[in-house]
Amino acid sequence: MMKHVITFLLLFGMGLSTSAQNSYRPSAENIKAREEFQDNKFGIFLHWGLYAMLATGEWTMTNKDLNYQEYAKLAGGFYPSKFNAERWVEAIKASGAKYICFTTRHHEGFSMFDTRYSDYNVVKATPFKRDIVKELADACAKHGIKLHLYYSHLDWAREDYPWGRTGRGTGRSNPKGDWPTYYQFMNNQLTELLTNYGPIGAVWFDGWWDQDQNPGFDWELPRQYELIHRLQPACLIGNNHHQTPFDGEDIQIFERDLPGENKAGLSGQSISRLPLETCETMNGMWGYKMTDQNYKSVKTLIHYLVKAAGKNANLLMNVGPQPDGELPAVAVQRLKEVGEWMKQYGETIYGTRGGMVAPHDWGVTTQKGNKLYVHILSLQDKALFLPLTERKVKKAILFKDGSPVRFSKSKNGVLLEFSEIPQDIDCVVELVIE
Ligand code: GLC
Repeated sequence: MMKHVITFLLLFGMGLSTSAQNSYRPSAENIKAREEFQDNKFGIFLHWGLYAMLATGEWTMTNKDLNYQEYAKLAGGFYPSKFNAERWVEAIKASGAKYICFTTRHHEGFSMFDTRYSDYNVVKATPFKRDIVKELADACAKHGIKLHLYYSHLDWAREDYPWGRTGRGTGRSNPKGDWPTYYQFMNNQLTELLTNYGPIGAVWFDGWWDQDQNPGFDWELPRQYELIHRLQPACLIGNNHHQTPFDGEDIQIFERDLPGENKAGLSGQSISRLPLETCETMNGMWGYKMTDQNYKSVKTLIHYLVKAAGKNANLLMNVGPQPDGELPAVAVQRLKEVGEWMKQYGETIYGTRGGMVAPHDWGVTTQKGNKLYVHILSLQDKALFLPLTERKVKKAILFKDGSPVRFSKSKNGVLLEFSEIPQDIDCVVELVIE
């Protein structure tokens, strides 16, 4: 009998502790911020750090096994003379993006903001001496752009960060590290970031996967997440861990993959009910890479944005700023071109959610109120069949000029007919449904 009671208590206790792990209740501000985040649909990712000077992407330090003490000497030459936060924000705003996500400290371990907790930062260790995050925060506030902050959980330069599966050749001497001091260091920096730079739209974590071969490694995320939500309840937390979201997270992130696709092999996680965001590079690299001029065409970029929206996700499109502080000219040009398209078609993207007709090879649908936007991205015929049975179509027009689109109903759905095969980058048909 006693044994049964103990078993029961144990099971009950486990049940309790599982539910205690799922204890996060987002605040009202947070829920509102999630809605706004989803309405905004489009952000620009900026990967900028000392690695820009090496011009081979942000992973060079570990890929080339660069010693962290040698690497740190880059800081003494970091002087991005052409950096102008306002010019960045203007170029980004011109694309129609509503937020920026900036790398405050990437895996290399260098802080791009003024921090009391490490001298290895842009103000104390470089001749530039300017707080990049501060200047960006001010420019964002001035131009009505939200600021999200990328923060790396892993660090290839700190002795107290316990060795993970990357950054083993950078000369750190202590495989075990010193987790309590490292954890405290991160929380101190996060406190600075959430205190000194005004409202932060989101903290975007990366690097969790570095410890996925150390069984039992505990990142102590709940306490860290709690700290962030305490400092700024509306700040969204996302973690690029490639897993289904953990308790305490507010958005789900996909890397280089639209939700549900897993072409790059990094995003096989199931799709949660949280707001979704997918990040992608404009060329092939996150950090500036001189030899990579392989920028995606404006058509590809627009298609990616539209497909993300049709899959109910935001797009976070990356640009890697140059060591001189400018955004690459090709990127600026693309931002402008996407912006021209967004000026005309933004209404079919902003504020929408994935539409009731699931994504198909021909394209996707987005939806807002009683309007269903059919985004035809590639069609071989002069007609398109939509398996739309639950709602009645009252009206169909071409979004770009309001001209009527012929449609007929059958018991399986609706047939749209065109005089020509649609050729636009995105031929949007607006359906009024009831
Ligand atoms: C990866 C990379 C990193 C990049 C990130 C962006 O996790 O480690 O360099 O910042 O993806 O999604």
